[in-house]
Amino acid sequence: MIILAIETSCDDTGIALIKVDSKKKAKIKVLSNIVSSQIEIHKKYGGVYPFLAKREHEKNLPLVFEKAMKQAKNPKIDVVAVTVGPGLEPCLWTGVNFAKKLVKKLKVSMIPINHIEAHIYANFLKPKFDFKKVFPAISLIVSGGHTQIILVKTFGDYKILGETRDDAAGECFDKVARMLGLGYPGGPVIEKKAKEFKSRTSKLEISLPRPMMHQKNYDFSFSGLKTAALYHFKSQKPKVQKSQKYIKSMAHELQQAIIDVLIYKTLKAAKEYNVKSIILGGGVSANKELRKQFKKNIKKELLNVSCYLPDVKYSTDNALMITLTAYYLLKNKDKRWKKTIVNANLRL
Ligand code: KG4
Ligand code: ZN
Repeated sequence: MIILAIETSCDDTGIALIKVDSKKKAKIKVLSNIVSSQIEIHKKYGGVYPFLAKREHEKNLPLVFEKAMKQAKNPKIDVVAVTVGPGLEPCLWTGVNFAKKLVKKLKVSMIPINHIEAHIYANFLKPKFDFKKVFPAISLIVSGGHTQIILVKTFGDYKILGETRDDAAGECFDKVARMLGLGYPGGPVIEKKAKEFKSRTSKLEISLPRPMMHQKNYDFSFSGLKTAALYHFKSQKPKVQKSQKYIKSMAHELQQAIIDVLIYKTLKAAKEYNVKSIILGGGVSANKELRKQFKKNIKKELLNVSCYLPDVKYSTDNALMITLTAYYLLKNKDKRWKKTIVNANLRL
């Protein structure tokens, strides 16, 4: 079976193709996974502009499709999967309209996919995973648009335990990076500056709050953290604000504050629900320091809990995760997709 998937929920135009060989223990082969990033376009604005993103998706989709098909050696497609939410509405529609034309031409079915669910299954490229050993799990999805702690009872059975009440963690990285004049997206550049910070040689120790960390719920608030960073920044002389020492110190403390809150709440949920694993996903899960500290803390505090971290290239938005979710939906005879329609605020 060949699955083609389309992802246009935010600022990345993605098309991927996988081949599932059911004879060979359902071996999944990635035929192509093309992501055309719009970073250069949105950089100027320090964030994503929906209508600009839509225009770019429209321009990119035929080119990305051609490239993905060529790389996959033009196979016969059996099913087309497409992201229907959550995401930016004009962007979602661009992908869905492209998918609709394609399924009409190919006379195949269209499978609508939830973007958040796909971030979870970005971890399961190899079907050697026995979901009975993975679930129940706690999944932390952290991206530019979302920060959610999800209880995954089993495939297709989800409960959102908590989420951000304002900004997403990735948004916080992006906004503080913009304040420091580091450009967009903020996560990777904050990670780089944080790594260069040397605590013993720096007199500029910054201390930021860990919002909502000890509250008895699984919600987050990253807007307060961003504001605390902004106040600190404003209280400095322009010369200090622009200095590398200050930038590195701020990047380090911001990253650590975000990591502390994410780890504390995720592990707390894993303990409360007595799960078998913790699954990370979304752009922020590409952060190497976050990955390192997650692994270390799980090993220390939750002996028998496995930790799934997506391959760094599958952490940020891509269409491969959409193909995988479509595959698992079909494999599990999950009929949810028959009812799903485009919804910018789609929830699990
Ligand atoms: O999942 P994603 O590609 O798109 C959304 O669905 O939002 O996530 C993008 C977000 C951006 O906010 C970006 O700054 C953040 O992920 N990000 C990172 C890193 N790489 C991307 N945040 C922290 N560290 C990184 N290395
Ligand atoms: Zn995403």
